[in-house]
Amino acid sequence: MTDPFARLIGNSSAMVELRRLGRLAAGSSATVLLLGESGTGKELMARAIHAASGRCGGPFVAVNCAAVPDGLLEAEFFGYAEGAFTGARRGGKPGRFEQAHGGTLFLDEVGELAQPLQAKLLRAVQEREVEPVGATRPVRVDVRVIAASNRDLGEMVERREFRLDLYYRLNVVALRMPALRERPEDLPGLAEHLLGRLGKAGAVPCLSPEALALLVAYSWPGNVREMENWLERALVLGQGPVLGPELFPEAGVKTGEGSWRRSRSEAERAALVGALARAGGNKAAAARLLGLSRSQFYEKLNRLGAGE
Ligand SMILES: Nc1ncnc2c1ncn2[C@@H]1O[C@H](COP(=O)(O)OP(=O)(O)OP(=O)(O)O)[C@@H](O)[C@H]1O
Ligand SMILES: [Mg+2]
Repeated sequence: MTDPFARLIGNSSAMVELRRLGRLAAGSSATVLLLGESGTGKELMARAIHAASGRCGGPFVAVNCAAVPDGLLEAEFFGYAEGAFTGARRGGKPGRFEQAHGGTLFLDEVGELAQPLQAKLLRAVQEREVEPVGATRPVRVDVRVIAASNRDLGEMVERREFRLDLYYRLNVVALRMPALRERPEDLPGLAEHLLGRLGKAGAVPCLSPEALALLVAYSWPGNVREMENWLERALVLGQGPVLGPELFPEAGVKTGEGSWRRSRSEAERAALVGALARAGGNKAAAARLLGLSRSQFYEKLNRLGAGE
């Protein structure tokens, strides 16, 4: 069987630790809270935990709390009984909790839930039973809950926008998904993986060292999802087996004014300095981080004056 956590690419210490914690979480039925910026792989992690858990034969049900209108959320979560309201389906309808029975319920964007729903969710998570709208009896459910948010829930608690008791209930095992800019050493491997996934079978192009250096220096506010989008576009627009820096204009213009070439060398310089810092000054290790040979690395250091 393949390891579900192998889908989370990256050998930075942050990712290695994250996979270790994910495996530990998978071995239990504890509630998991996934925190991290948009595009950092929260859903990927939730699915890996489910797939590696004893519940893998059961359903994985995802609900995006931000996408369902407040008025419909209660019925969406907990279901409804026959005749609960006008237009209710005959025989009623099971909610997401019941659908996830025996499996995992993924509550995405849980920070967007309105307060009254937070109270009802607390009860369901705590008691492992739900009350369908209009029903006379509660229904017992056996689900593991994984919640995710890109907002700082602790801060929301302080501002009284998120219930403290629900926060405690969800925050049993908390995993923080690192932003891409915190682990630039993962970029070369991630780019290769994504190009392999996005490209046509057979001839998968690679990034030129300049393009890679540019991407390493970029700040990636949209994280891996943003990178996926850029690479997909580069695959469409790029010609030939090597994707050059000209395919990633946004990465070069982030410093504002100045010519494209100048901001590009600035970005490359930042990549060199950053890699050297992470490698503790070891130039061979820094070159490896950037996917450059030692001689390419030295040549760049001299040209860009980043070696001092
Ligand atoms: N470490 C990783 N290795 C490989 N692919 C990744 C990794 N992290 C994220 N991805 C990919 O990036 C995309 C975004 O990931 P995902 O949807 O899990 O992020 P998210 O944190 O749920 O984002 P959002 O807040 O936008 O919902 C997906 O296509 C996913 O497969
Ligand atoms: Mg998501």
